[in-house]
Order: sequence, then structure tokens, then C-alpha cells
Amino acid sequence: MGDNVILVGFMGAGKSSVGRLLARRLGRCFVETDDMITAREGRGIPEIFADRGEVYFRALEDETVRLLALKSGDVIATGGGLFCREGRPEALRTLGTVVWLAGEFDVLYERARRAGERPMLAGKSRDEVEALYRAREPYYRQADVTVDTTGIGPDQVVSRVVRVLRDRTNPLPSGERAG
Ligand code: S3P
Repeated sequence: MGDNVILVGFMGAGKSSVGRLLARRLGRCFVETDDMITAREGRGIPEIFADRGEVYFRALEDETVRLLALKSGDVIATGGGLFCREGRPEALRTLGTVVWLAGEFDVLYERARRAGERPMLAGKSRDEVEALYRAREPYYRQADVTVDTTGIGPDQVVSRVVRVLRDRTNPLPSGERAG
């Protein structure tokens, strides 16, 4: 298995902000799949969706997943839909530890609506976005570990992620509990 840390989760889960802080804390490089796509295409995600549509964007994600195989030791934040395709959970788990930044749908939804332009929200009702979230949940559940972000800020989320990563590297003898 690779030694990257891969953050997955729905829009608004904090993958970018947590990823950046986590990379700093671990002294690793930070990579975002959306940035890889933006760099390759020379334009932003909303423009790619507007000009070429979602199918084209998902093909760019396929290409990006292939390129991720070249990474080692990085913290990688993925776009909210990248993990949610057949075969993706298996493919990404070979590249490192996959961490699902989980949270309550309504909190994620409000956060996602407030920050940045998100083509997957455009023109959709809350219920439609919730249906998308529910369809994706079974994929997110296939992450190696889940970190609940409910009610805590990015710094605390980072601390939780660091703790679960440490516990996976150095499991406690059975019967002992992490403090
Ligand atoms: C998407 C999420 C976005 C971006 C694109 C599609 C999705 O990333 O990859 O707009 O399908 O959920 P964030 O999860 O960082 O918003």
C-alpha cells in the first residue's frame, strides 16, 4: 500500500482546509485533485463544467487518478465525486490511507453553498443535493477510516486525523485505550 493520506468526502466537508493544515502538521506536500485538473486544463472547474460538461470533467478525474499513482507521502484532497465511482475506493486505498471527513448533510450543504462556486450545486434543490449525498455515502463508507467533523473546526479535525493515523501505525495492545 502507498503512504499517501487521501481525504474524501462530500462538498463542504473541509477536505481542502483540513488537507492543507494536515500536510503542514505532518511536514508533507499537499495536493488537490481539482488543482491538478485546473492546471492541466488551464481554467477553473466551473468553466470546465460550463464548456465541456460533467462527463468530460469525470474523464479528467479518471486521468488524475492514474497520475496519483506517482505520488508518495503526500496529503491528497479529492473532489467530492472522485471517490464515488465503481472501482475507485479499491484503487485509492492502494495509494495510501483513505480518510472520510464525514458530517451531517445539512451542515455540509450549508457550508458548500456558502463557499465558492460549485457546479454540482447549481440549479439543484436541497433535496436533489441530498439525494446525491445519499447515493455517494456507500462509497465514502469504503474509506479506511472515518473522522466525524460534526461541531468541530479544521484544527480539531486535523488532530483527530493525526490520532487515527497514528493509531493505525502503532496499534495499542488490546485492552488499552487511546487518550
Ligand atoms: C464535485 C466537487 C468539487 C469539484 C467538482 C465536482 C462533486 O470538489 O471536484 O465541482 O462532484 O462533488 P469539492 O468537493 O472540493 O467541492
